[in-house]
Parts: sequence; C-alpha cells; structure tokens
Amino acid sequence: MAEILCDTDRGVMRLRLNRPEKKNALTRAMYSELTARLDAASGDDAVRAVVISAEGGDFCAGNDILDFAQGAAELQTADIDAIPVFRFLKALTFFEKPLVAAVRGQAVGVGVTMLLHCDLVVVADDVRLSLPFLKLGLVPEAGSTLLLPQRIGHQRAFAWMALGEVIGADDAKGLGLVNRIAPAAEVEIVAGEMSAKVASLPPTALKHTKAFLRDAEDVWDVVKAEGEVFRTLLTSPEAMAAFSAFMSKA
Ligand code: COA
Repeated sequence: MAEILCDTDRGVMRLRLNRPEKKNALTRAMYSELTARLDAASGDDAVRAVVISAEGGDFCAGNDILDFAQGAAELQTADIDAIPVFRFLKALTFFEKPLVAAVRGQAVGVGVTMLLHCDLVVVADDVRLSLPFLKLGLVPEAGSTLLLPQRIGHQRAFAWMALGEVIGADDAKGLGLVNRIAPAAEVEIVAGEMSAKVASLPPTALKHTKAFLRDAEDVWDVVKAEGEVFRTLLTSPEAMAAFSAFMSKA
C-alpha cells in the first residue's frame, strides 16, 4: 500500500500520509514521494491548492527515528539539496500555491514544523502538537526557528521548544497557529471546504499575495542553516542515546 496517497478533484490535490501503524512517521521514501507530488502540483495549472492530511487518528509522529539512524551517514555528508527531507522542505518553502493542512491527534517534530509552511491549518479538537527536538539532542528544523517566533513571539516559541510543552487545539488557535478547530471526523471536510474556496480564486493574484506574505528565500536560508547544525548533531551522544532509547522501547 502506498505510504502517500494522492488524488486531485476540482483543482485541489489531496496528499494523505498513509502509515498509520507508525503514526505516519516520515521516512526518506515518503519525503521523496511528497516532494514529487508537490513538484507535480507546482507544474500543473489544473492544481490550484494542496491539502495535506493523514490516515488514522494521528497526523504525523515526525521523522521516522529508525530511518534517521539508518540514514545518518548520508544526512551528514550529502549535499543538502540531495537529501530527501531537505528536498521536501525546499518544495514546501517555495510552494507558490495555497497549502492547507488537516491535522488530527498527535503531530510531532516535522509534523508540526511543516504546518508553519501551510497557509491554512485546520485541527481536530484532540490535536496534540509537540516539538521534542531539544530533548533528542537536535535543533528545531524546517525554518521553525524563524517562523515560530515570528508568529508567537520569542518566549512562547522558546518555552514550547525547551519545556516539552504539548499544545492542544485551543492553545494553538489562541497562539494564531490554527484557523479552525473541528471535530476529528470533520477536519478534512472543513479543510476541503476552505481549499475549494481558495482554489476558486484567481491563481496569479493568489501567488503574488502568498509571495508578499512570506519571503521564501529568507525562510530557505534559515532551513539550510538549521539543517547544517541539525545534521552534525544527529550523531551526538545525546541524539544517539535518545534514538536508542526510542528504538529499544519499540
Ligand atoms: N519513528 C519511528 N517509529 C515511530 C515514530 C517515529 N518518530 N513514532 C511512532 N513510531 C512507531 C512506534 O515505534 C510504534 O511502533 P510499533 O507498533 O512497531 O512498536 C508505533 O509507531 C506506534 O507508536 P507508539 O509510541 O506506540 O504510540 P503512542 O500513541 O504511545 O505515542 C507518540 C505516540 C507520537 C507520542 C510516540 O510514538 C512518540 O513519541 N514518537 C516519537 C516522536 C518523535 O520523537 N519524533 C521525532 C521528532 S524529530
């Protein structure tokens, strides 16, 4: 079964993470597939918006930790532009069409930081958003060290990253990270309605508006800078110990 499901209907491409038995943790293969789909959406005038959602009760448990451990050597030595996770982050950063997220249950690590690249975010009332990078011995990624304090201020961003706080739906909405809260069973319906509305807008005006709202080059510079540190930390004793602890639990 494909781990990324994709269909397009009336101008809206739906990308669904489909690895629910692993809480939709993302592997290199999944990042590559997501990148290919985003690139295809970029090049297809018939696609006017993209919705990212997930199968099962949880959105995404972040990067697959086993896959991290197995790919650490490549992650540390390859050119950033050749690494699946960074190719995905680049595609997200420079994506010019509206991106909408529909999020249920757990969203961890990149499962949260990718939301900072989305233009509209709908969450379920059961959502639990966490950023465990520091306790894994890593730095936050995906441009989140720029995007999160821009949105919620330094102290709140720092507290979330450093104190291991888990943010629920009401707090996320209060912080301005989320547009709508819906019952879990309706999250994708609401996201679908919102994406249909943006898909009906004039695409060129929409593209320029999105470009004025966020400077993709600035964001990408930070993604790369974070990435350089992130990959050196992957084999730090703290990260290795955290990965081993998780894998021995599994
Ligand atoms: N990488 C690899 N496997 C993962 C994973 C991840 N990031 N997150 C969850 N899984 C796997 C578990 O190992 C387990 O596999 P198993 O059934 O073969 O044992 C399965 O998904 C279900 O996870 P489980 O931990 O049993 O579910 P839970 O509801 O008790 O907890 C989480 C959910 C998301 C809180 C917990 O899985 C977790 O903390 N995951 C790691 C998150 C993380 O640190 N991500 C990396 C950020 S850089």
